[in-house]
Amino acid sequence: MRNSNRQWILKRRPVGDIKPGDLELVEQPIPVPGPGQILVRTLYLSLDPTNRIWMSDMEQYMPPVNLGEVMRGGTLSVVVQSNNDGFQPGDVMNTFTGWQEYAVVDGGQKLPPGLPLPAYMSVLGATGATAYFGLLDLGKPKEGETVVVSAAAGAVGQIVGQIAKIKGCRVVGIAGSDAKCKHLVADLGFDAAINYKTTKDMRAALKRECPNGIDIDFENAGGEILAAVLDNLAMKARIVLCGMISQYNAQTPPPGPSLTNVLMKRARIEGFIIIDYLPRFGEFFAEMAPWVMQGKIKYDTTIVKGIENSLTALDMLFTGGNTGKLLIQMSEEPG
Ligand SMILES: NC(=O)c1ccc[n+]([C@@H]2O[C@H](COP(=O)([O-])OP(=O)(O)OC[C@H]3O[C@@H](n4cnc5c(N)ncnc54)[C@H](OP(=O)(O)O)[C@@H]3O)[C@@H](O)[C@H]2O)c1
Repeated sequence: MRNSNRQWILKRRPVGDIKPGDLELVEQPIPVPGPGQILVRTLYLSLDPTNRIWMSDMEQYMPPVNLGEVMRGGTLSVVVQSNNDGFQPGDVMNTFTGWQEYAVVDGGQKLPPGLPLPAYMSVLGATGATAYFGLLDLGKPKEGETVVVSAAAGAVGQIVGQIAKIKGCRVVGIAGSDAKCKHLVADLGFDAAINYKTTKDMRAALKRECPNGIDIDFENAGGEILAAVLDNLAMKARIVLCGMISQYNAQTPPPGPSLTNVLMKRARIEGFIIIDYLPRFGEFFAEMAPWVMQGKIKYDTTIVKGIENSLTALDMLFTGGNTGKLLIQMSEEPG
């Protein structure tokens, strides 16, 4: 056993790419477990794109790591010393003890035997669960549909693609090298893979590989990849906004609307065209008409007289000249 505990401390919030000095490796005494506590030695530390988010003070789903604190991270640890009857030295368990070699914990989830330990940090850990719930719960894949996944050779992406194959979908991966693309198709059963770094026209490549359009986009990349995907959506497509790694190091917000809050707030954006609801207009009228008659719903109209004014009146919609519904009154109402 070492006689010190090496830890990575967050010293300052990175600007753009993480730079030397943003984090500092320090040595501290190995902590001593108190009554009921357990000293664990870290076996594996999970490195995740979200580490970069946690280092920043951007809007996020957990508080950022405070400056001066040990960097946060999921870990797999072995018990070294236990003052807790439920844990014996040698027990291996899931922990969340961050970027350090030793930690004191009150407990942890012991692992079932059977698989190599890294499996519990990947396919059977948070990344596997992300793929599983994101695809099945939000994406709702149906047999025969086309699924596109970005960062497809990464931890989450490669599991997404394989689950989608189990569900009978056509699966197209997007990855950043020919070797990764080959691996996706040859070894992981993807139907096709696109190297986004060498493909000049991603829209055309996606159109070629997804001739019926994209039913599910499992979005890990964001930015230009997402833009190309959006141009190839099929009717009633679902976009699972899992991550936007292309933006985590950005120093200035990319142009256009930011989807960061959509991700962080688990918001939903859904296309909507009213003609789909024509069969339900009776339902609408039955509820709305009484609301209007009882004065529960008020409505404004801006009425312009004369067909000859139609075109100039139309302009009011773009200048804000109307309040409420803009109408042309073509002729007098019957007396
Ligand atoms: N919502 C959640 O709860 C949740 C949970 C876990 C992960 N995530 C998100 O899921 C995504 C994947 O995470 P992961 O843990 O599985 O990491 P990962 O995919 O194993 O690693 C990241 C990969 O992203 C690719 N990449 C990096 N920069 C890129 C860019 N500018 N454009 C396109 N691809 C880029 C790289 O592969 P290439 O060689 O292909 O470029 C890299 O290997 C991330 O966005 C992460 O934030 C979300």
